Amino acid sequence: MLKKIQEWRGKETSKSLSLKEEIMKHPIPEHIAIIMDGNGRWAKKRALPRVAGHHEGMKTVRKITKAANSLGVKVLTLYAFSTENWKRPKLEVDFLLKLPEEFLGTFLPELIEENVQVRLMGNKTDLPDHTLRAVEHAMDQTKENTGLVLNFALNYGGRDEILRAVKALADDVNENRISSDQLTEEIFSEYLFSNLLPDPDLLIRTSGEIRLSNFMLWQLAYAEFYFTDVLWPDFNENNLYEAINSFQLRGRRFGGI
Ligand code: FPP
Repeated sequence: MLKKIQEWRGKETSKSLSLKEEIMKHPIPEHIAIIMDGNGRWAKKRALPRVAGHHEGMKTVRKITKAANSLGVKVLTLYAFSTENWKRPKLEVDFLLKLPEEFLGTFLPELIEENVQVRLMGNKTDLPDHTLRAVEHAMDQTKENTGLVLNFALNYGGRDEILRAVKALADDVNENRISSDQLTEEIFSEYLFSNLLPDPDLLIRTSGEIRLSNFMLWQLAYAEFYFTDVLWPDFNENNLYEAINSFQLRGRRFGGI
């Protein structure tokens, strides 16, 4: 039996390695954004509390960050906590907002070693101090890094982001810092949390849900969408390669012919 499992594992490794080799022959998406969904269902299937699913999901964050970095992906944006997630039970909210601290407390040295740069996207003001401190410390420690940008969307909502941008822009117009006829899509983008980052080329959502849930509404205008039934805690390197492979098989025309 053990031999069988080892053989199967060996096969799986060589299968995922060959898929990795295959996708490396074609353009890799510069920016991958992920809606990490299915933690609760993963836990429920195992009769565990929901937070156990989030904790397992944190381990997937590490795995997928390493895999994306090794493929040469430039930006990986992860939807870790939405503006709607405050509606969850307090225990779950508290747990979710402690995860960045635990993740960075454990893996920051590894991220530094791998040349990863940490970034934050979302409304900072309502985040607990301990969450913000952990992320800002990591941002500071990794600001000179030139590898993958690991962009955490925390207390992030697409509509909230657009509304904030519009308000800031209206202030700048009122104060004559910019005139409304000078406004372009590029300038508007500078008012968003994602300022200076390229738009995502590929959006992945796990767990079989097929919706955007208020995620990067402006930035995903031309992205390819990839939905998989795999629950986030089960998502692995091979699943990432499959998503990229699917992306590479599609013809992106950006509205042209
Ligand atoms: C949605 O699954 C997932 C979240 C609301 C949180 C995602 C967070 C992580 C994966 C961990 C983040 C890690 C770091 C380092 C910040 P769900 O709870 O809605 O799942 P369900 O639909 O199955 O109930």
